[in-house]
Amino acid sequence: MFSTKVEEALNAQINAEMWSAYLYLSMAAYCHEQGLAGMANWFEVQFKEEQDHAMIIYKHLVARGGRVKLAPIAEVETEWASPLAVFENTLTHEKKVTSLINELYALATEEKDYATQSMLKWFIDEQVEEEENVKTLIDNLRMIKDNGFGLYMIDKELGARTYTQAAPLAKE
Ligand code: FEO
Repeated sequence: MFSTKVEEALNAQINAEMWSAYLYLSMAAYCHEQGLAGMANWFEVQFKEEQDHAMIIYKHLVARGGRVKLAPIAEVETEWASPLAVFENTLTHEKKVTSLINELYALATEEKDYATQSMLKWFIDEQVEEEENVKTLIDNLRMIKDNGFGLYMIDKELGARTYTQAAPLAKE
């Protein structure tokens, strides 16, 4: 059984993860427009991963008799000043998600919801990895500044990223 507070917070987090997916798909489209197909691929993988995050919470609610209530997904940005700006926006957003996950964990602890705490542990580790990856990309982009060859090389590298289903879904 879920407490009303935890159930509502988990539904809000499903929405936040779907919003993240939407944001990254919008970023992918922007990158395509800039001729950066590799970066677009990186964001398309990100888009899929965010949908996995929403599904992990969805399945957790369903498995324990909770109610899933899907809310509208708010509009996302469609324009950025540069590829660097896109990744800076990504880091700001991921930091926001980290604080949402931390708040959720604190709530689950307060409500003595041990199963939800256990489910959220995967997200806590995932956020550390997400922030670290984006920080590295921002450092690289700052290093190359306006160097076209540098951008070409980073784009090529990001084009190699492949999607792997999130571990909590893959083990089913
Ligand atoms: Fe679902 Fe990028 O955190």
